[in-house]
Amino acid sequence: MKNATLRQLKVFESVARNLSFTRAAEELHLTQPTVSIQLKQLTDLVGLPLLEQIGKKIYLTDLGRELLLVCHDTFEGLSRFEMLASDMKGVKAGKLRLAVVTTAKYFVPRLLGSFYARYPGIEVSLKVTNRERVLQRLADNEDDLYILGQPPEQMEVHAEAFLENPLVVIAAHDHPLAGKKNIPLRRLAEEPFLVREAGSGTRLSAERFLNQLGLTLKVRMELGSNEAIKQAVAGGLGIAVLSAHTLALERNSNELAILDVAGFPIRRQWYAVYPADKRLSVVGSTFLDYLKRESQSVANLYLAGIPGFFPETAHNARTAKNKP
Ligand code: PGA
Repeated sequence: MKNATLRQLKVFESVARNLSFTRAAEELHLTQPTVSIQLKQLTDLVGLPLLEQIGKKIYLTDLGRELLLVCHDTFEGLSRFEMLASDMKGVKAGKLRLAVVTTAKYFVPRLLGSFYARYPGIEVSLKVTNRERVLQRLADNEDDLYILGQPPEQMEVHAEAFLENPLVVIAAHDHPLAGKKNIPLRRLAEEPFLVREAGSGTRLSAERFLNQLGLTLKVRMELGSNEAIKQAVAGGLGIAVLSAHTLALERNSNELAILDVAGFPIRRQWYAVYPADKRLSVVGSTFLDYLKRESQSVANLYLAGIPGFFPETAHNARTAKNKP
């Protein structure tokens, strides 16, 4: 086993994680025969099977699972070492694994453009999924840094708020409530609502906010993404509570209206989170500093353009007393 090469371990790790030769080959930019040869050589060195193929499906043997854990430790150790070395050389370089909730995809990728330009040696992988799954990844220690609309309640973490995340009520531009001033919350509860899937942080905080006031939403439909909700709202199916950040691309369209509802926007923040017992890598803290420094100006660029809404809501959001 001591003769196994790092390349063989990388190939094995990718096949074992993806449970697919094709996906591993794509991920590593190798041909499938190369992947198979590397794996065969590694299996010969071990002397026992690491994978089993039943029909078209690949399974890890017990030994394969053990080796996968060893691979993760080895690669993590190596990348820590790499970062330490580049830090000592004064160069910020290495790999950063980020996992962010779906709603954060409106500003994190924008921010990455300027981040890459500033730190060309840092390679970022970005996983975008809903709150529930981001929390699962955090519990499984799969990434370096997580971005959420609310820190987890069940886990000890470092959490830093870095940007406002106001939740607003949106309706079709020709909705009878569009343009009305100071709509009472009770009136809102009569409207059919479109909500995100269970497990969404946006949904959770909108429900909590209204429940605290003794109101429940009349849910007409559950949709699995912010984009689907905006389309359905524009189509007149109902109204919805979404993060203002999701309206980044709608700033030049007048299909959607933001309703002026008493108590809204719900004032929230974006948080960067990592486990309390973990030391953030040099690359991780470089990104966190960048987030804290730059995200407001990146968000201002697209939020300020939302017609009739953002300058005013940004002000309300700063002064509002309501919490999620
Ligand atoms: P979501 O999360 O994209 O899962 O709704 C947003 C949040 O946590 O605020």
